[in-house]
Amino acid sequence: MRRIFPPVVYNPITLIGAAIASVSFGLILFVFILEIFSSIGDNPYIGILAFIILPSILIFGLLLIAYGVIRERKRISQGKSREGKLPVIDLNDPKKRAAFATFSIGTLILLLFTAFGSYKAYEYTETDEFCGTVCHQVMEPEYTAYLGSPHSRVGCVGCHIGSGTDWYVKSKLSGAYQFYSVLFKKYSQPIPTPVRELRPAEGTCEQCHSPEHFFSQKKTEYTYYISDEKNTRSNLGMLIKIGGGNSVFGAATGIHWHTSSDHEIYYMHSDDRRQEIPWVKLVTKDGKEIIYRDKSVKFDEASFPKENLRLMDCIDCHNRPSHIFHQPDKMVNVYIDQNKIDPELPYIKSISVQALETPYTEKSIALDSISTIINSFYRSTYRDIYEKKQDKIASAIQEVQSIYSRNYFPYMNANWKSFPDNISHVYTPGCFRCHAGNHVSDEGLVISHDCNSCHLIITQTDSRGIRKVDIEGLEFEHPIDIGSDVRDLMCTDCHSK
Ligand code: HEC
Ligand code: HEC
Ligand code: HEC
Ligand code: HEC
Ligand code: HEC
Ligand code: HEC
Repeated sequence: MRRIFPPVVYNPITLIGAAIASVSFGLILFVFILEIFSSIGDNPYIGILAFIILPSILIFGLLLIAYGVIRERKRISQGKSREGKLPVIDLNDPKKRAAFATFSIGTLILLLFTAFGSYKAYEYTETDEFCGTVCHQVMEPEYTAYLGSPHSRVGCVGCHIGSGTDWYVKSKLSGAYQFYSVLFKKYSQPIPTPVRELRPAEGTCEQCHSPEHFFSQKKTEYTYYISDEKNTRSNLGMLIKIGGGNSVFGAATGIHWHTSSDHEIYYMHSDDRRQEIPWVKLVTKDGKEIIYRDKSVKFDEASFPKENLRLMDCIDCHNRPSHIFHQPDKMVNVYIDQNKIDPELPYIKSISVQALETPYTEKSIALDSISTIINSFYRSTYRDIYEKKQDKIASAIQEVQSIYSRNYFPYMNANWKSFPDNISHVYTPGCFRCHAGNHVSDEGLVISHDCNSCHLIITQTDSRGIRKVDIEGLEFEHPIDIGSDVRDLMCTDCHSK
């Protein structure tokens, strides 16, 4: 028999390695062709099969080849030549033929199953069930909030991984660490945010949303109840200037002006949570740079660590698109407005918020205490109402408990304060991290603080029930008199307590 390769190649280990390598190579080719010619090519999992699982098998085969060659070379140098000692498989012998066929087909099937099995295992690690419930207590806050969010049908992986192998590997590496931290209770409570390894919004949010195509304004209605005996009601109607666009569609405007590809906004944050932003840089389309500095704080830009410099994207405003822990005033307002909580119960707004905001160490204690606080308030202060409106009080308690279960997770210290939402500016700094009127450039430009730059208040009904309407925009009337002009103060000075 003529041999094409040098003799060191002809040993069983190398030959088995070669078989494994060629079969996996064939499979990789097959998956590639599948990807090119069918729509399943969009499936990131196929990529994982083709780029991670099969290549691993291929590499294993190649390593076997190399190991066989080295081992054989040693044997030859020791004079133990295998020349002619390779097992001879005589395919004319029916017994050997059957054994050979069984062995080859078996190997092939085994390989396929290994690939399929690891694929299935991989697929399971990508399900919301796995992400949200395997480490039950740890993920409970995020999973509960997620189920009640506008993105409850977007899988965890849609925002946390996205497609492509590089982010898959990154996230699985950090996942392996998380697994370790849960096993050995090394995780922090609450889980730290911002998520440092979060993929940029370009690969996640922007796969589904395109603010370049947003143009309109959105009308939003708010109903408020003050913490007085009558739970005095007032209303506000606003047009939120969603905006969007870019220079192709006409200049970008409104809130989504930030996301236009015509310019870039960089900022430096002085705290880990990105709540304090003393320095902002706007780079315009023609390369001009405008730097705004917060004149109300002292800082040294040279001493900022490099990782605190960030290019602004969706997540700098929408940091809670899915894990929203609602603020209690807002939730109780909504529940009273929907009549789930009876507005006729004196001080119900006040006592509900107070019961929610009391710090508790455990959920069961919290739920019991909410019931005790509300019941004993009416029993001691409004005896007659306590007796006449037992059912209303009981259902109010139930609703407040449900607000608690949805938004407070004492075990993980998760609530609206530990996870501030950046989309507004009333209860958390949000937009006012840059738009408080304190960020000034050398040229004297100020990042706008005008109450009508982001939204127009078009209707307002005050506590006496007097309604004002103006499509051009009304001046905001604070629901109670705070003794000074609300525009000169940060809303959070009073509202983030
Ligand atoms: C719509 C997009 C989106 C979806 C879907 C989503 N997340 Fe998130 N998640 C985010 C963003 C954005 C952050 C980071 C916020 C930040 O860095 O400030 C985050 C943060 C987290 C954090 C860190 C703690 C925290 O609350 O900030 C955990 C844990 C988490 N997500 C788990 C999950 C799990 C589990 C699922 C699926 C059940 C899921 N996420 C689905 C967008 C999403
Ligand atoms: C897989 C597609 C998908 C991804 C990825 C995605 N979204 Fe969404 N998003 C949706 C859909 C669909 C809706 C509409 C849900 C509805 O109206 O019920 C939505 C709604 C929204 C809304 C409006 C919510 C509201 O209260 O009405 C915002 C804001 C938003 N997404 C922001 C984001 C951000 C920020 C990210 C990235 C962190 C993101 N989305 C990632 C599909 C996606
Ligand atoms: C400067 C802050 C900011 C940035 C950056 C930003 N958004 Fe928004 N976005 C808002 C605000 C404010 C709203 C309106 C309030 C709301 O819906 O809660 C909004 C609304 C939306 C909505 C709902 C639109 C509607 O008509 O109801 C979607 C979807 C959305 N944003 C997606 C994105 C995506 C995707 C990005 C990144 C490309 C992004 N946003 C970047 C602040 C921002
Ligand atoms: C990291 C800093 C930063 C944050 C956070 C931020 N902005 Fe801005 N914003 C800017 C800068 C810089 C400008 C450009 C200067 C200007 O026009 O005032 C701007 C401009 C705007 C404009 C005017 C756009 C136009 O038409 O010229 C609107 C509207 C706006 N921001 C809304 C918001 C809203 C709403 C939020 C919060 C959800 C927000 N911004 C958060 C930095 C920021
Ligand atoms: C940089 C943009 C921006 C500026 C400037 C701004 N706001 Fe807002 N405001 C927002 C956004 C964004 C929201 C949240 C909209 C939503 O709920 O989706 C909001 C919400 C509100 C709300 C409703 C709060 C709630 O949750 O009930 C009030 C009231 C309000 N703003 C008043 C003001 C007043 C008064 C000023 C001037 C001192 C002001 N805003 C300036 C962006 C801005
Ligand atoms: C000096 C403190 C202070 C400042 C600053 C302040 N508020 Fe208030 N605000 C209050 C008090 C006190 C109440 C009454 C709370 C209650 O009775 O429940 C209130 C009530 C409200 C309410 C209705 C109650 C509710 O359900 O939350 C809104 C809306 C509101 N403020 C918006 C704002 C906005 C927007 C800003 C910033 C532009 C602001 N406030 C700044 C003290 C303040």
